[in-house]
Amino acid sequence: MSRPERINLEIVTARNTRQLKAAGATMPGGVNSSVRVHGALGVPFYVSRSEGATVYDLDGNGYIDMCTAHGAALLGHGHPAIVEAVHHAAELGFAGVFETPFHEELARKVCRKIPCAEMIRFCSSGSEATLHMIRACREFSGRDKIIRVEGHFHGYHEMIYIGGHPPKEYLDRNATRPYVESAGIPETLRNMIIPIPFNDPDALERAIRKHRGDAGTLILEPVNYNSGCITPDPGYLELARALTEREGMVLFFDEIQSAFKKSPGGAQEDFGVVPDVATIGKSLGGGLPLSAFCGRSEIMSRYKPLGPVQHSGTFNAHLVPVLCGLAFIEQIENPGFYRRLASIEARFHSGVDRIIEENDLNMIVPRHGARFGVVLGRRTPPRNYSDVLVHDKALMIEIWRDCLELGVYFHDYGGGPIHHGYSIQHTNEEIDRVVEVFAEVLPPYRERINALGAD
Ligand SMILES: Cc1ncc(COP(=O)(O)O)c(C=O)c1O
Repeated sequence: MSRPERINLEIVTARNTRQLKAAGATMPGGVNSSVRVHGALGVPFYVSRSEGATVYDLDGNGYIDMCTAHGAALLGHGHPAIVEAVHHAAELGFAGVFETPFHEELARKVCRKIPCAEMIRFCSSGSEATLHMIRACREFSGRDKIIRVEGHFHGYHEMIYIGGHPPKEYLDRNATRPYVESAGIPETLRNMIIPIPFNDPDALERAIRKHRGDAGTLILEPVNYNSGCITPDPGYLELARALTEREGMVLFFDEIQSAFKKSPGGAQEDFGVVPDVATIGKSLGGGLPLSAFCGRSEIMSRYKPLGPVQHSGTFNAHLVPVLCGLAFIEQIENPGFYRRLASIEARFHSGVDRIIEENDLNMIVPRHGARFGVVLGRRTPPRNYSDVLVHDKALMIEIWRDCLELGVYFHDYGGGPIHHGYSIQHTNEEIDRVVEVFAEVLPPYRERINALGAD
């Protein structure tokens, strides 16, 4: 693939602005997901197509994709096995709204991989998965309140889009008056949420003891990708397991992001702690919309028609993503799959860490499997949400703009220290190119990066 030395972002922005003008007439902000307005351009980054590890803008410029569909495209774009699965579904006439033997096959195969999964249900998005799983957790435990962890993300719905990412100036109030993260979510729902900081065993124990009578669920991201890829301290997940078991609470791992990223069994396999229930995604559909929720049969059998909990939907487990899910599982079962991902991880991070060290940059790139964060303003791994508040979002966006100009696409995430990653289709050359781009882009920002956290 040929890439120009530098992409003229003025031209890209002008082209996207014209598209936005048309799209904005009928879609708010010209997009279908509010986060698709790219901070580095000030307009959405409209795409014409994608292939392998590359996305192409409307003028045909190619960019190495380090967003990979927010982690859904672990197989890269247009993987032949996924394309074949889509064709297979088309040959079968899509058979929408029906169960097929393929559904059973996928359920059986995924349950075999995810340690907590005795039973499973499929749906489209991660937000749907957490919503439906929370509903069964509440019914099963008989307790409505939910203990959640600051900096963790579990989707955009009313049940849980509260108290996760409060602004810096609100953080000290978050524990007593959880921050409602979107206008339109009823304020009263904050009473259902008990936020605690990550990797703080005392806070965890206090919250569980205090709310043993009214909180029935502890939900967390076992790897907190949504605050820059923060891994659990040794013993933290084990403590969460022991305390929830003691109090009869449901331990809920949200593995929408972590599933399949480092190993086939997700973070529960990586860390050897098995929750009661988990949501898994988003790479499961090979880039198509497929997520799932799963867990102990005792809890999963609370769904209708076995129990009283409703979970239904026209597009649940549509045949297209289900066949793609089977193709995805087949791919990750290739003996070399996780070896290759680990080799990309090692290649990328040794390159990036070298640049940070050689240029004495006050930043860190925490990683777990195929995804990583970029945190400006600290050199040691963050342990919780407060630790990443030193990060400078505006500076991050400037850096992402420079990367775009050199043909590497990072999603902006409002400049936040969220997560980025690669796919199995990223070649060594592409990974080396991203490292090279970092080597060119980062040093001029040294003074500003190193001034962070100084006061
Ligand atoms: C851990 C986690 N849970 C839930 C979600 C929500 O998934 P979706 O965007 O598919 O609704 C995400 C999305 O990034 C996620 O990372």
